[in-house]
Amino acid sequence: PVFAKAYNPSEVHFMSDDCENRNEPRKVLMCTSEHFSIIDVKNIYMQGQKGNVNVDRANVQWDAIRNSKKKKKNQKIIDDVLVIDGIEGMEDMVFIANQSFPWVMWNGEKIAIMSRMRHENRQNEIPYVEDFYKDHGYKIVELQSKYHFEGMGDMIAHPGKRLLYGGYGFRTDRAAYDEIARIVDAPIITLELISEHHYHLDTCFLPLNHSEVLIAPDAFTPESLNIIRRMFEGVYEIPEEEAIEGFACNAHMIYGQNKNSSAALVQRGNPVSLNILQQSAAQVLEIDTTEFIKSGGSVFCLKMMVYYQESRFCRTSL
Ligand code: ARG
Repeated sequence: PVFAKAYNPSEVHFMSDDCENRNEPRKVLMCTSEHFSIIDVKNIYMQGQKGNVNVDRANVQWDAIRNSKKKKKNQKIIDDVLVIDGIEGMEDMVFIANQSFPWVMWNGEKIAIMSRMRHENRQNEIPYVEDFYKDHGYKIVELQSKYHFEGMGDMIAHPGKRLLYGGYGFRTDRAAYDEIARIVDAPIITLELISEHHYHLDTCFLPLNHSEVLIAPDAFTPESLNIIRRMFEGVYEIPEEEAIEGFACNAHMIYGQNKNSSAALVQRGNPVSLNILQQSAAQVLEIDTTEFIKSGGSVFCLKMMVYYQESRFCRTSL
């Protein structure tokens, strides 16, 4: 197996196939949107948007997303859709991809690494998300180091593998990944983010399956782009306007064993990205998340994929 540590791109001398297999999580967690609003500017998208959220419209959009995921449950593409209540005064809690990172250890133990959010008012969301994990049999892991880490917004797994990609530069500190690699006991390839529009890795990097990925190339340094091209056979660069205005890399890709059992949910109005997604997933649904895009998030950040009962030995890979 590949040594568990945080790698700079130039230090990576392995392929994804050298990493152990992992079963993808099959449950979706969402957080209700009734307390969603924009009260400050945490990222470039939020500029000029203070007080500009139409909550009724946001609730309608959120309901449509949840309903589409319920449909995926009925089709047995995912196992469950879980919902926690948003909390009054926590305007960004609806972006449930950010407060934590769930993982399954070698012995089958489920852990949840709790984020250390860059913004103090988002740090207040953490205990509520922690409660969810406690109720679901997870061991809670707090970071010992003082560095910032924003959960699945910045750390994304290679589909079907015990291999992670960690974005840094805006919200998460590079140094956080040293500790996290030891906790998850898996390699993390760190990717420096250089564009304000791509302040989280999930705004510019979307693995489609074990060999293909959708990216916004302007988000990355040349070294990061290079390593992405080495780790994935197919790297699809989407037009910058689809990545920025359309939040196309922030789609929710549901990984099945093959194209037929895979699905995707993406912001509507991204023709190039839609076409690429349709090559890797049998069912691709376009959806409207414009109220949330005002705050710098779309489909991907409005959910968290969580694990349950996994067998000790992963026999299946993608
Ligand atoms: N307004 C939120 C923030 O700035 C948006 C978070 C979006 N989440 C994401 N994973 N991209 O923190």
